[in-house]
Amino acid sequence: VPDDLQGRVVLITGANSGIGRATAEALAVRGAQVVMAGRSEEKTRPVLDEIRAAHPGAAVEFLPLDLASFASVRAAAATFLASGRPLDVLINNAGLAGTRRLTAEGFDMTYGTNHIGPFLLTSLLLPALQSAPQGRVVNVASDAHRGVKHMEWSGLDRRTEPARSGWRAYALTKLMNVLHARALAHRLGDTRVTTYSLHPGVIASNIWRSVPWPIRPLMTLFMQSNSEGARTPVYCATAPELAAISGRYYDHEHDVRPSALGADDALAEELWVRTEAAIAGTGA
Ligand SMILES: NC(=O)c1ccc[n+]([C@@H]2O[C@H](COP(=O)([O-])OP(=O)(O)OC[C@H]3O[C@@H](n4cnc5c(N)ncnc54)[C@H](OP(=O)(O)O)[C@@H]3O)[C@@H](O)[C@H]2O)c1
Repeated sequence: VPDDLQGRVVLITGANSGIGRATAEALAVRGAQVVMAGRSEEKTRPVLDEIRAAHPGAAVEFLPLDLASFASVRAAAATFLASGRPLDVLINNAGLAGTRRLTAEGFDMTYGTNHIGPFLLTSLLLPALQSAPQGRVVNVASDAHRGVKHMEWSGLDRRTEPARSGWRAYALTKLMNVLHARALAHRLGDTRVTTYSLHPGVIASNIWRSVPWPIRPLMTLFMQSNSEGARTPVYCATAPELAAISGRYYDHEHDVRPSALGADDALAEELWVRTEAAIAGTGA
């Protein structure tokens, strides 16, 4: 087993399940210190135990993080920063689809979890990323972003009542993940920190939990495994040949073109400004 990531610190969100779990394990096996950030210690504990049992010496730890609460995002970032460690890689992996709920600040749950919370977390962790030899931000987006033909900003507005949010909202948040990586790359142009967004493949994870039986087992039968889903995240997080490349989109460990909207720098900048304003507007 290679231990080429010895000494590197990786923080990954949503690592108790699916692609995130497989990515955390693949990095820990190579010697990285992996901080598994999630909203449930109860769900993450057994995962930590299994990884440690399968790979003695694996340096995995839990960090409480609920992306749907700014207070939780700020507390998680503060806890990590207080550890004084540089952050080599932040993997924004956590995500969901098909909800009818609001975040603590009143954003739609899909937007809050998939884009707004990760945007805030990334901004707060930048000092630690900048103190690493070559920090990286990896956004687990999706080819679902290609389904968006017109940008829509209403998901960044706070609501008083939750509304059903389905495939379109999900696709919009995944486009936002692509644009966030792009805008951040521009902003970090004079630093060593690089950014990436990616499509992990179509993976039989828990993300399909809201799809009813018997459609779900039939659908997932034709999908790839979680460890196959971890390949492109691991590639973006570690490939030495990507150290000087930033803001691009990957699929199957290859640099590919995102949709026209996903490659629009003005749109990326607009997303940045609007998301900052949405966060500031809450006062939280
Ligand atoms: N599966 C696919 O085919 C596919 C395709 C393209 C892109 N993706 C992307 O891949 C990423 C990982 O998804 P997955 O397929 O591995 O799904 P998954 O098995 O459902 O895992 C999602 C993870 O996100 C976490 N999460 C959800 N809400 C959270 C919150 N408020 N705070 C912190 N963590 C939260 C979940 O924690 P809990 O267990 O506590 O809910 C879970 O650990 C997502 O960004 C998804 O959009 C997946």
